[in-house]
Amino acid sequence: MSLGNNERIMLKAMLSDPDRSWTLDGILSGTDWEDQVHVAGSGKALEEAGLVEVEESTSKLVYLGSEGVRAASDGLLESRLWGWIKSQDEKGRSLKALMSAGFERGETGPGVGILKGLGVVIDSGNLVVSDEEEIFEKIEKRSEFIQSLSDGPRDPSELDQDLLNHFSSRGDLIEFEESVSRTWRLTEEGANVDPSDISEVQMIGELTPEMLQTDSWKNAEFKPFDVSAPAPIPSGGRRHPMQSLIERIRSVFLEMGFSEIEGDYVQSAGWNMDALYIPQSHPARTMQDTFYLSDPSSLDVDSHYLDLWSKVHEHGYDTGSKGWGGSFDKEEAQKALLRTHTTVNTVRHIAENPDSPSRVFGIGRVFRQETIDRTHMPEFHQIEGIIHEPKASLPMLVSTLKTFYAKMGYPDVRVRPAYFPYTEPSAEVDVLWRGEWLELGGSGIFRPEVTEPLGTEWPVCAWGMGLERLAMLILGLDDIRQLYQPDLERLRRMPLL
Ligand code: PHE
Repeated sequence: MSLGNNERIMLKAMLSDPDRSWTLDGILSGTDWEDQVHVAGSGKALEEAGLVEVEESTSKLVYLGSEGVRAASDGLLESRLWGWIKSQDEKGRSLKALMSAGFERGETGPGVGILKGLGVVIDSGNLVVSDEEEIFEKIEKRSEFIQSLSDGPRDPSELDQDLLNHFSSRGDLIEFEESVSRTWRLTEEGANVDPSDISEVQMIGELTPEMLQTDSWKNAEFKPFDVSAPAPIPSGGRRHPMQSLIERIRSVFLEMGFSEIEGDYVQSAGWNMDALYIPQSHPARTMQDTFYLSDPSSLDVDSHYLDLWSKVHEHGYDTGSKGWGGSFDKEEAQKALLRTHTTVNTVRHIAENPDSPSRVFGIGRVFRQETIDRTHMPEFHQIEGIIHEPKASLPMLVSTLKTFYAKMGYPDVRVRPAYFPYTEPSAEVDVLWRGEWLELGGSGIFRPEVTEPLGTEWPVCAWGMGLERLAMLILGLDDIRQLYQPDLERLRRMPLL
């Protein structure tokens, strides 16, 4: 028999007296169920199995409404009004006096109506009572009626029908409720079930590791699985939105024919700055802007480059430039620092491959001493790239950046003249976002002061853009910190590229 455990329990109880019509209380005492939760459901299942017939009867009950509960403790409005009338001498029983007698607003109006209904007459503003006895009796009866309901719901047919009608037409004093009561009776088929055939088995709702270990699942019966029941939506693992953005950028550059390069976070000031013709007195080189390391505090730099940079910085060497003047400090160039931009990677790439044309990009972390706020963090990422080849040119640079941003979903790009110590011309790159031009990065053609010491004869298109700014744009954030706070809820809601 494919009955659940509760149905078996109920059936077994009913078989103890197969001819009886079972009430809820009967079933509760025949089983060891403490409340009625199982009865209706099990009864229904037994009915569906053809073993039980269910008879339902609905009955009406009457009970006190919110005003009725109040009346039961404070008195009905008419009995309170009556109390007031009795406390006044005949002259004092005026409507005017009633108004200021301390009844609630909204009580006096209907109250006067009720008094009239009871036989009080209004005569030029005075309340005139002719038959006190009769009115008092009516009020008493009404009060008793209300009191009789204060112990709980009653069968309306046992109550005075006139008063029932009277109170049903007054607001919130009494309420009616329909209640369904059921009885269960075994069908012939049900009555013929042999009780010894009904074995109670524990129905398992959930498989536990213990059950698997002890093999107890082998003899268990499992509750049918309700695939239509509502269930929580599991949230699985997911890529961080920044990581997926990086992947997207990577694939855009790869499909544009670029190769990826990487570099170390720790660099010498020489490669990070001097190679880029950033003057040694540049404010960005100070401790306020750059993280210098104490261990190691300096790094070896090939003296070949130290010599070249020193000549270029001091007087321009053979680059056609006049240099910055002053004297170049080679020790300064060997200071160790955390790279402040990823341009150090592309410059080193050129130095390592001066004779082979290259189109490379890198996405990497950079470090600057910034105070954290809505748009700044001491660690962020740059998207860096170069085109290093004989015919590299400014139009090529601009169209490359336009292609990149168009592929990222921002077709409107503009470049504006800008200044960087290492490029000439230099351009700032803006994209159009919701009608506004947003600055996303710098670019330009490396100056000869940069390229000649690296050993190349070719022009270099170069750019470096902020990854977080782009991410904020794409994800619609107005605070850079939101990208890195471990707020799983928010991260889960961010779209992935
Ligand atoms: N390095 C620059 C920055 O950090 C960007 C840049 C890269 C500008 C290459 C010109 C050329 O903002």
